Amino acid sequence: MAEALAEESPSVKAQCVGFVFPMHYFGLPLQVEEFLEKLIIYESPYTFAVATCGVPYWGRPFLDAEEILARKKRKLYGKWFLRLVSNYIPYRDIAADWRISIRACLAKRKISKIAEAVRNKEDHSTWQVLKAFCQRYHEKWRGRQSEIDENFICDGEKCTSCGLCEKICPRGNITRPEGSPVWHHNCVECLGCLHICPAEAIDYGEATRGRRRYRHEDVAVRELLR
Ligand SMILES: Cc1cc2nc3c(=O)[nH]c(=O)nc-3n(C[C@H](O)[C@H](O)[C@H](O)COP(=O)(O)O)c2cc1C
Ligand code: SF4
Ligand code: SF4
Repeated sequence: MAEALAEESPSVKAQCVGFVFPMHYFGLPLQVEEFLEKLIIYESPYTFAVATCGVPYWGRPFLDAEEILARKKRKLYGKWFLRLVSNYIPYRDIAADWRISIRACLAKRKISKIAEAVRNKEDHSTWQVLKAFCQRYHEKWRGRQSEIDENFICDGEKCTSCGLCEKICPRGNITRPEGSPVWHHNCVECLGCLHICPAEAIDYGEATRGRRRYRHEDVAVRELLR
């Protein structure tokens, strides 16, 4: 989606169109919202979405996606939450390894079921609870987007100037004039820079100090870079 957003008029024409994205602050990540707004969807008889998350059902990502798609006269037929490992470490540390293994196992099973349903072009809805509360919470977060990255700090002693934080940022929000990262207030809080740093030099205020960093074991660093 980050790459497609760089195109002037991203478009898709297919029998089946799927959107897979993480849930952020009970709703759509800012870039996913921008992508859905910008995307031109030609004939697509079946459209579905999967929202990965730490805690399923609490949130309204599909409602938000459907509002955007409805303006394009499209709808979501299939909607699924997929519980993975929450990488939001300003709130809570990464789950213990045994929990990660169980979640990975359950997620694989659920993905097989989703794939089967998508192949059969099934209608599938899901619970989305506390919708009004989640909307208020999400909007409050959006309202302070330009301040999000003010919490990032980099420990210059640990930083090796490898450049990965700059390369992973989907917004081009990081430069490194003197080796260490500098943030430019166009952050979507994906936390990619924080989790990818091999030296663990980046923290989000004090809250993330000493907490684990996480990347799914099947995902290589190069797959995440711009
Ligand atoms: C800024 C931010 C906000 C998040 N908000 C939520 C949330 O409201 N509910 C939730 O269940 N998970 C939340 N998460 C966790 C992500 O949904 C989770 O890390 C992601 O879906 C895991 O998929 P991935 O491994 O592909 O990134 C949040 C993560 C970030 C970075
Ligand atoms: S990823 Fe970490 S070590 Fe590499 S340049 Fe960024 S802050 Fe420095
Ligand atoms: S969290 Fe880091 S990588 Fe993600 S958008 Fe913000 S600056 Fe870029």
